[in-house]
Amino acid sequence: MARLKTIDYVNGKVQIIDQTLLPNELKYLTIETVNDMYDAIKVLKVRGAPAIGIAGAFGTCLGVADVASDATIDQFKAIFIRHADYLNSSRPTAVNLHWAINRMKQKLESLLPLNNIGLIRQKLLDEAVAILEEDRRTGRAIGEAGFELLKNTTTILTHCNAGGLATAEYGTALAPVYIGAEKGHIFHVYSDETRPLLQGARITTFELMHAGIPVTLICDNMAASVMAKGKIDAVIVGADRITRNGDTANKIGTYGVALLAKAHNIPFYVAAPFSTFDLTMECGEQIPIEERDAEEITCGFGKQTAPTGVKVFNPAFDVTPNNLITAFITDKGVITPPYASKIVSTLG
Ligand code: MRU
Repeated sequence: MARLKTIDYVNGKVQIIDQTLLPNELKYLTIETVNDMYDAIKVLKVRGAPAIGIAGAFGTCLGVADVASDATIDQFKAIFIRHADYLNSSRPTAVNLHWAINRMKQKLESLLPLNNIGLIRQKLLDEAVAILEEDRRTGRAIGEAGFELLKNTTTILTHCNAGGLATAEYGTALAPVYIGAEKGHIFHVYSDETRPLLQGARITTFELMHAGIPVTLICDNMAASVMAKGKIDAVIVGADRITRNGDTANKIGTYGVALLAKAHNIPFYVAAPFSTFDLTMECGEQIPIEERDAEEITCGFGKQTAPTGVKVFNPAFDVTPNNLITAFITDKGVITPPYASKIVSTLG
């Protein structure tokens, strides 16, 4: 089964799947401008920490696509930085976006001595493609490491979407499931619905069904009872930012699932590439948490479900404290406690 191409660079153009339309429509969009890329990230047409990093990297290239070749290098750099900072402001929590944009800025710095706008533009594009290809490889490595850890289990629970549609190809939390399928081990995945934007219901189920992997959808408030019935062998989720001590920001509701897993003695794993670890931050309290529009809760998908004018709090992410996490599954291997020393020694 061909894997879905979340984001790709085809014939000189950036293509994404418009994830706001899933599962009803599988539509590919061509993104041609920085503004279109900013909007695509902001409204979650492209989403998931690694995928928005890749999107941001390509966005910086779109931003300099039209700079005249007789512009000065200083003008070129100023335009690049302005667009890079704009893209960087689209979503605050997933560090992968900032990581990828910083990498593009550093690449530009190293290319300036070439003093040739056409050549610099091409090499920036090569770097964005390298970030995309690298994400495919890291996803696969996470999948291999995660499968080793999970191969004696059958039923796993996940929250939100940390699958292929959140990355270049394999995903993070779902990567072990895909690697398992390649090796003949079929996991059964329980997918939390993931209020309010329903990434679990709309996207995780869609991509697993597309891949022929058994999946059962549950509402978020059913996870406790499903665990109590003994149906879950392990929980595995992705991450948007992990600090030096292992505190982990991920989709709102993840913290609750981690508490439930602890209460039921079920291992709780976080799968993430090195680019999701923010070694500049000591602990979860420092992570900026995105707050989104009230309408996502009061009028989700166009149907009003709360009184007009009701006060709403809509954080898109929460932070799971490190003591609830059994292990991190990364492209550099599995990291177990104590995290404060091991995260830095593995990834620093
Ligand atoms: O708001 P979203 O859909 O971008 O949130 C996505 C998540 O929280 C994912 O779990 C996370 O980005 C990891 S993706 C491999």
